[in-house]
Order: sequence, then structure tokens, then C-alpha cells
Amino acid sequence: MASVSHNPPRGTRDFYPEDLRQRNWLHGQFRETSRRFGFEEVDAPVLEHAALYQRKAGEEIVEQLYHFELHGRHLALRPEFTPSLARMVMARRGALRLPLRWFSIPQCWRYERMTRGRRREHYQWNMDIWGEPGVNAEAELIAAIFTALDSFGLAKGEVVLRVNHRALLEEKLQRDFLRSQPGVFEALCVIIDKLDRSGADAVCAQLSDPKGTVRLDPAAATELVAQLKGTGLEAAARGAKENSPALADLHTLFTALDAYGLAERVRFDASVVRGLAYYTGIVFELRDKGNKFRALCGGGRYDRLLENFGDKPLPAVGFGFGDAVISELLAERGLLPELPRALDAVVYPMSEATRPAAVRLVTKLRDEGCAAELVLTELRAKRVFSHADRAGAARVYLIGDDEHARGVVRVHELESGEEREEPLPR
Ligand code: HAM
Repeated sequence: MASVSHNPPRGTRDFYPEDLRQRNWLHGQFRETSRRFGFEEVDAPVLEHAALYQRKAGEEIVEQLYHFELHGRHLALRPEFTPSLARMVMARRGALRLPLRWFSIPQCWRYERMTRGRRREHYQWNMDIWGEPGVNAEAELIAAIFTALDSFGLAKGEVVLRVNHRALLEEKLQRDFLRSQPGVFEALCVIIDKLDRSGADAVCAQLSDPKGTVRLDPAAATELVAQLKGTGLEAAARGAKENSPALADLHTLFTALDAYGLAERVRFDASVVRGLAYYTGIVFELRDKGNKFRALCGGGRYDRLLENFGDKPLPAVGFGFGDAVISELLAERGLLPELPRALDAVVYPMSEATRPAAVRLVTKLRDEGCAAELVLTELRAKRVFSHADRAGAARVYLIGDDEHARGVVRVHELESGEEREEPLPR
């Protein structure tokens, strides 16, 4: 027989009980934050129609798709949740009450080049609002992100949310760099998104590649990249058109965030454009302060996504917050909790004759809501106690022939060593 690797496929994870306890804890914080903000949970299949991801702007996510043909159908493992969400919204469009506030924690698949915090599968907490055109929606989502961060116990200065507005950049570019080719803005954003990772030279080379989509003049590419770095909101405002709606959005957003007490934790950054083509408005990314990891979270407004699927547009905004980077950051700060197994009791029939009584007792404990394990074979007491101890049980219920004859069970508290007798259930 062929030997099989004991490791899961590269870039994917097994979750042993201790890992799953931590995953559940993290997802629990995501769920609790979403609940507090009045969001409802949704899910969709991991397997999707590959057509949902057929996009032309050169996005990495499309190149990294796990996809295959089966019985004439082209299917893909979802690399993100937003297109599935769009499909769900379109399917019930007439019946849904807007604005929708939906969250999800999907497992997503991308054939990534593996680096720290970059995996081939990850869980991604999504919160999305559909049907609300105003930036109060963005403010709510950003507030939810910080509520989750606070629930992890992360100190306030550890991460910063960087915000930009795609339309602000677009307005400016259409007047100079892109005047002659307005259709390449999305592709340009996808390239600029690599600035942090690939560096200015590589980005300039791609922007001015004569065989590429954008084909800027090399001098213009260099100037554009230089302009993006270190531009504050005031400088960006000077370049904006008169009565710029994008600039007004940004001001409204920053005022709203001030009311949430978040002004200090968010800043404008002209270089944040995001690597997904569908964003149309405010975009944002959450980074650790040392910029050591990839983004912890990213999102923005994508009011025109439904047009890609031949439907009428509908305002939408949301974010995706991965599990990998936050887990690394929390582990580095000693903030990932050690979660013991939560076992209340071990029930130990000391002979087979006492097993029926033990079964009645363990059933009663379970009915009362206890996590109770039944010893399945005849074992010596020493083995049972060391197992109960390791499993973190609070007490062991012992039923020997003598206790059985007297209609009682011996209850041993593991922490104090105290023992008492209780009546056996009939
Ligand atoms: P994204 O920026 O591609 O956005 O992913 C969001 C977050 O998911 C990232 O900031 C990162 O934390 C995590 N993530 C993505 N890929 C990986 C990976 N290979 N390994 C580990 N973590 C990863 C989206 O997916 C959008 N659909 C988010 C969104 C929702 N926009 C609006 N609504």
C-alpha cells in the first residue's frame, strides 16, 4: 500500500482538540461582537461556481483559485466570501429587508505562496452591510473591528486602521495619469496594493510594463508611487476636485469615528487601495504597528459588485478579518488563552456488576447538563484517577460493589481530595 503523509496538505491545518478549543474561542469573540452589533450569521457552500471569480483586473485571488471541472461543471473552493454573499443577495433580492446586516466565518482557500500569516486555507470573519449608501455603515463596521480587538485584550496602540477612498484617487488620476485610458483604474489599484509587499521599484515596473494593462509612462509611474507614500489627508484634499464627494465621505467618516472614540486608532493613508477590483469607495486595512505581518483585516465599499453578475447595483460595504495573523499576534503577546478541556465528571463502575447503575448515574448527570465521561472497561482505580486528572475533570464518581449494595455512589473531588457519598439514582 502507498504510504501516506501524516501531515495535512501544505498550507492547511489539522485541528486537534486543543487547537479547536482555541479556534472556537476566537470565533466566539467574532460571533459575540457581531451579535452586539445586531448582525445575523449566514453561510454558503465551500464549493462555489467558478464563474463567480472570473474577473479581469489581474487580481492575485483569481490566480490562486483552487478549481476543477466535474461532470461539465466548473467549480471552485471559495477564496473569499463576498461573491457568495452577492449570489445569496441576488437570489432573494426582492424579498430581503434592507439594510442587511450579515456576518459569517467561512473557511477560504487560496493557493498562496506560503509566508508568515499567509496560508492556503484560513477562516475569515466577515461583516457586511447591504443596502446602505452612507458612510455611517463604514463607521459601524470599523467600530465592530475595534470591539473585537478589545475583546482579545490587545493594547490600543498595537494595531492601526488605515483608511483611504478609491474615488479620491480615481478623481485625481482621471485628471492626469489616466486621462487617456480611464478603463484601467481597477487594474492599477490591484498593482498599487502590492506596494508594501513588493516595494516601489517592482510596482513602478508593473505600472509601466509595455505588455501590462496600465502602461503608464515610467516617469509618471514613479511620480504616482511617490505621491501615494506619506500623503496626509490635507495633501490629498488639495489634489481633490472641487466639492469632491469622496473627500466629503472621508470627513463624515472621521467625524463619525470620533463619536465612537476611535479617532486615535484610525488614520488616512493614500497608499491603501486594496487588492480586490470590486471596491468603489472607502477602503481600509488593519495592520500591526510594526508592519511585521500582512493585514489582519481588510474591507471597503463595493457598491457595483452585482453589476459584474449582470444585476442592478446595490450599495454594499464589508470587511474580512482572517484568523491567521491575529492568532500570531495574540500568541506573540501572550494573549492566546490556554483553554483546558471542560470535563465535569468521570463515572467509574468498579466492576461490571455496577455498570447498569453507573449508566443510570451518567445519564442523569448528562441530563442535568454535566460533561460526564463513562469509563468503558474494567480499569484499576489508579488509571482512572490519573486519566481524570489529566482530562481536567472536577470529580470522579466511584461505584464499587459495596456502594452499590448500599444504594450510594462515592464522589471524589479531585482538587481538594474530599470524598462524600450521594444516593444512586434508581
Ligand atoms: P482580503 O483582503 O483578501 O479581503 O482578505 C481579508 C483578510 O483575510 C486579510 O486581511 C487576511 O487577514 C485574511 N487572509 C486573506 N488571505 C489569507 C491567507 N492566504 N492566509 C491567511 N489569511 C488570509 C477579502 O477577502 C474580502 N472579500 C473582504 C471583504 C468582505 N470585503 C468586503 N466584505
